[in-house]
Amino acid sequence: MNLIFLGAPGAGKGTQAEVVSEALKIPQISTGNILREAAKNGTEYGLKAKAAMDAGALVSDDIVIGILKERIAEEDCREGFILDGFPRTVPQAEALDAMGIKIDKVIEINVADETIKQRVSGRRVCQGCGASYHIEYKPSKTEGVCDKCGDKTVIRKDDQPEVVLERLATYHEKTAPLKDYYEKQGKLVTVEGQEEVADTSKLTLAAVGVE
Ligand code: AP5
Repeated sequence: MNLIFLGAPGAGKGTQAEVVSEALKIPQISTGNILREAAKNGTEYGLKAKAAMDAGALVSDDIVIGILKERIAEEDCREGFILDGFPRTVPQAEALDAMGIKIDKVIEINVADETIKQRVSGRRVCQGCGASYHIEYKPSKTEGVCDKCGDKTVIRKDDQPEVVLERLATYHEKTAPLKDYYEKQGKLVTVEGQEEVADTSKLTLAAVGVE
């Protein structure tokens, strides 16, 4: 099964994609995580991407489409994959169609902007492996320490309030039109984001068809 998770920054795409990835045993592909890793490693495209990410803007379509093409050609994607954060513009969606990739469902996680602003202020991410936590809704077992790799958890640079506002504006302008794009293809399923992670997971798994 090939799935896309769509939604505003901080809506819970990554959190739910991880749940579905475990349930269906298919990889979660987060373009945000790939770009952050590239920026950390100082690769050429990573450095280009960093400036856009830190400002709450999108990285250019050609960079992201190139990354995505390479990633879905890998062996572990043969049985399917979950795209978390791609496509984010109509040209990216068109590029995916042009690659001949069949998408089964597009899961939109719908959360109000006001909720998002409050939510991302509590997010912490592992500086080593990128795992994501929330100080209230999904705390790590030991505060400040990643459950998965033991590295330190930190506040993401683009989670500063002024950058979050910019990311939300970018989402409404450039990414929200994809709802129409996939609605017309009969693939869009909207999940209303709930206050508790587990409640959203139940709705998401049902939307994907996993009971
Ligand atoms: P990316 O890393 O994809 O960021 P994003 O889309 O802004 O999404 P987030 O990771 O912020 O949030 P999420 O929806 O995954 O929510 P999460 O599950 O973490 O991209 C970063 C940047 O990279 C972009 O700004 C752009 O510059 C660039 N980029 C990436 N892809 C690109 C592309 N295709 N094209 C161009 N540029 C691209 O949840 C958020 C928090 O809330 C967590 O702390 C979580 O624990 C908590 N939480 C989740 N669900 C709930 C719930 N139900 N109740 C309470 N808390 C919850």
